[in-house]
Amino acid sequence: MERLKTFEEYLRQPLEERLPYYEKNQRVYHVMVSQQFSYDFLMKLFDTADLVKHITHKPNGAEFLASVLQHKRAMLYFTQPSTRTFLSFLTACQTVGMNTGEVRDPSLSSELKGESQEDGLRTFSSYFDAIIMRDPKPGFCEYVAYCLDQTSRSVPIINGGSGKDQHPTQALLDVYTLYRSFQEQGGISGKTCCFVGDLLRGRAVRSVIYLLARYWKVEMYMVAPDTLQIAPDLEHFLQEQEIKVHKTDNLEEVLPHVDSLYMTRVQDEYDLSQESALLDYSKFHLTIENVQRMQKHAIIMHPLPRRHEIDPSIDSDPRAMYWRQLRNGMYIRAALLLYLFNMEHRLAEY
Ligand code: NCD
Repeated sequence: MERLKTFEEYLRQPLEERLPYYEKNQRVYHVMVSQQFSYDFLMKLFDTADLVKHITHKPNGAEFLASVLQHKRAMLYFTQPSTRTFLSFLTACQTVGMNTGEVRDPSLSSELKGESQEDGLRTFSSYFDAIIMRDPKPGFCEYVAYCLDQTSRSVPIINGGSGKDQHPTQALLDVYTLYRSFQEQGGISGKTCCFVGDLLRGRAVRSVIYLLARYWKVEMYMVAPDTLQIAPDLEHFLQEQEIKVHKTDNLEEVLPHVDSLYMTRVQDEYDLSQESALLDYSKFHLTIENVQRMQKHAIIMHPLPRRHEIDPSIDSDPRAMYWRQLRNGMYIRAALLLYLFNMEHRLAEY
């Protein structure tokens, strides 16, 4: 596809017009935002993730999986703090046999010698077949994808979290967790999903909401202090999708009505002047007492890391899904890598 002259010109286009640039041969190529995943894409990816999970537990299964992408290499470029997403991608790469390289501290790379981040990333594309990245600058992943697409050696860019923007692979693992949890209860459609905490700046929340909008008749509760309620553009999107949204700051009251509860921490790294420190956030914490108000089949999620949003004594409750989310993340990211290199069909050989 012909590129526009400048990145600014490219970025001025609405997202719908930029989506085709994330594709090659009618397949997802760069993983940028969760709006790029169709319902059919999700279903196929979930099937692949189920297979990855199944095969890893079979005799010689892990060896077989590790042979599928052993000819590919991935670069992990994580210049914003990360424990889970970094390790999840690393273990996903190992699961499908990919070798990896990493930059976590740019002060140890040639950036210190004055090399631009763009040149650094172009260097990686010469050595690696995919770049998985997390950077504090919103839109930076998209910029890198744009720059590499102008060169003769473009590789898939996978957004592992871009500032307050989006975290599309977290959304994939979250919806995969919901899908698995509600398999016996008619699936995700028709369910009531509740989001609690910093809904304004949480990129995980934003990304998962876009994906849930793909399902039929999902209803949503948004529980947050006024100053951290969902952004107007996201609310507008949900209105357009005709999704029923209830905004409130009363967690206790909504607990008996929800099928899933998605807890989040205050994203105070984005504070302009420590304004979050003035907030009484305790109303938005899940305690062992108020978890009793939830339905038996309801599930509790959290993208982690947590602070005090969920009392650790809740961890042993069968409804607590946040540790399982981590395992699901590894399977879904392995499935995504298989998809990106068009190798998911190889699983049928096992
Ligand atoms: C989330 C993130 O980085 O956006 N964490 C994660 O990737 N598992 C959520 C958060 O940091 O609060």
